[in-house]
Amino acid sequence: MELLTFDDSTALAESAAQMALQTIKDGLAENERVTWILTGGRTPGAAYRLIAGQPDVVDWSRVNIGMGDERCVALDDSESNWGQAERDLLRHLPLTAENLLKPAGAVTAQEAADHYEVLIRDLPQVSPEIPRLDLLWLGMGEDGHTLSLFPGLEEIEEANRLVASVYNSPKPPPQRATLTLKAMRGVKACHILVSGAGKADALGKALSDAGNSHLPVARVAREIESQGGKVIWFVDKPAGAKL
Ligand code: 6PG
Repeated sequence: MELLTFDDSTALAESAAQMALQTIKDGLAENERVTWILTGGRTPGAAYRLIAGQPDVVDWSRVNIGMGDERCVALDDSESNWGQAERDLLRHLPLTAENLLKPAGAVTAQEAADHYEVLIRDLPQVSPEIPRLDLLWLGMGEDGHTLSLFPGLEEIEEANRLVASVYNSPKPPPQRATLTLKAMRGVKACHILVSGAGKADALGKALSDAGNSHLPVARVAREIESQGGKVIWFVDKPAGAKL
């Protein structure tokens, strides 16, 4: 586990953008194709826009792009993670439909999960049933959730599916589809972007407890590392105040 601390969210975004591009380039040096799973929420927007401003650094024709979790709303809805990524990043890159693992949008959580399970399962695998996710971006909520895996909800314990349905997300909208802990087993590099004073308590808990935190973000990070994946936390000073 590596912790990078930045003076502010702008410096965090600049570093996260550069590290993402470098990680993708490194992956393309070893594999015909690379998969980048994006995160939703507000935090990644500045980094997405920085990457959108330098579209020639990476051969995007060889990059699959997906979303770690998605709300069950229309993809052009302001609440859609995919819609946000499309506006800030995807429409600015030389991508075609073949590159995009596009969520289902305004369907039920189970339909969304079933749709995405098929897309994720068809990616190149590191072992039977486990797709290779070369780069996973994550955010973290003030309760220590990540993806749409929330403290106390059952989806964190899903052990058979790669994508789970969520019907009662405490963070609206309530219905979502989310990658599961099982899907984390194929993650090669995970960059967790945490910004703002509101995250300080949860981050302090997630990175303390001698590595035994039960917060979803901590469990996801441990699962990735248990399989040899590299986790880097990108934290600005306000979020890191309790470290
Ligand atoms: C979502 C996100 C979620 C997000 C955190 C942090 O669908 O809401 O995937 O896991 O990353 O809630 O969100 P902010 O970056 O907006 O604080």
